[in-house]
Amino acid sequence: MILKEGMLKEGALKGKNILITGGGTGLGKSMGEYFLELGANLVITSRKLDVLEATAKEMMGQKGGKVLPLSCDVREIEQVEKMWEDAVTEFGEIHVVLNNAAGNFISPTERLSTNAFNTVLDIVLKGTSQVTLTAGKDWISKKQTGTFLNIVTTYAWTGSGYVVPSAAAKAGVLAMTRSLAVEWAKYGIRSNAIAPGPFPTEGAWSRLLPGELVKKFDPAKKVPVGRVGEHQELANLAAYLVSDFSSFVNGEVMTIDGGEWLKGAGEFNNLDKIPQEMWDMMEASRGKKP
Ligand code: HXC
Ligand code: NAP
Repeated sequence: MILKEGMLKEGALKGKNILITGGGTGLGKSMGEYFLELGANLVITSRKLDVLEATAKEMMGQKGGKVLPLSCDVREIEQVEKMWEDAVTEFGEIHVVLNNAAGNFISPTERLSTNAFNTVLDIVLKGTSQVTLTAGKDWISKKQTGTFLNIVTTYAWTGSGYVVPSAAAKAGVLAMTRSLAVEWAKYGIRSNAIAPGPFPTEGAWSRLLPGELVKKFDPAKKVPVGRVGEHQELANLAAYLVSDFSSFVNGEVMTIDGGEWLKGAGEFNNLDKIPQEMWDMMEASRGKKP
């Protein structure tokens, strides 16, 4: 099936060293696997070293290349700086940072403790900014070029109830992406973002559709094309955006959601619930005086 096929040509990422936060699981892992297949080396980082080590072993066994697992809580600047230092020591230079790590859960906002709200803000906004600043300062001081790719969501611009800290933090990441795309372009540093719609992962599904919710809300039903995303589809887009083929793409957020967010936005889009017979009746009565 074409949805599961790699799109870029062999060796498209050869010579690139790519750091992925949250690279041990879910979408970070899937994107990393494809980057490896295209010739890149990887640093994968998150809090759980055992998960990262198992993923690195699996990836190298299946795809070859080199994968360095490094533990780092992106909320802690000392850990971020140490992780970056270790990554640079291993590979000499990191060319791409994929800010993918996130935390999220579903809850009415008034039920959230201050700590709960801050936990998500800290992982998503503070964590991304700390990794970005650490990498950017190093690249600029060494006169190296670099590429950032940040994973946001479509509710970064629409907002969304029940995931308010995540929406606020992702909006901040999107603003940072666009701001730095302009400010750091003079250093040869590009910044782009991807806004995925629903892509099944254990991490997202268990937290956003816990228990009975998964039976009540089928995510595919909200998507005009009638299905959820395949990981390879996202990996294809991400590989393009971190490759040199996208050198002229800067400050962009690319949505990959089968039209999901626009369906929610368009004034009359819910009219797809109207049966054909009713349209037939309306058409037949068109022009007739009441
Ligand atoms: C309300 C909750 C909660 C929940 C935790 N808390 N879970 N509050 N509802 N479901 C509260 C706790 O009570 C605590 O507050 C505070 O949050 C911190 O909780 P900890 O468990 O101590 O935090 P921590 O161990 O740092 O874990 C962070 C986490 C966890 C965000 C809570 O879920 C996590 O590690 N997530 C990482 C992976 C993840 O979330 N992936 C999904 C990304 S999906 P108190 O006041 O009690 O101390 C995504 C997709 C979006 O972003 C778009 C989909 C279409
Ligand atoms: P996931 O597997 O849970 O990925 C989240 C990753 O972040 C995990 O690997 C986790 O690893 C890491 N992480 C969490 N807190 C961290 C911290 N404090 N420091 C460092 N790493 C941390 O979920 P996913 O679905 O693949 O999500 C990946 C990205 O896609 C996220 O940015 C998410 O917002 C975005 N997204 C997903 C969907 C979807 O439908 N799946 C839709 C839109 C956007 P540890 O637990 O080891 O730290």
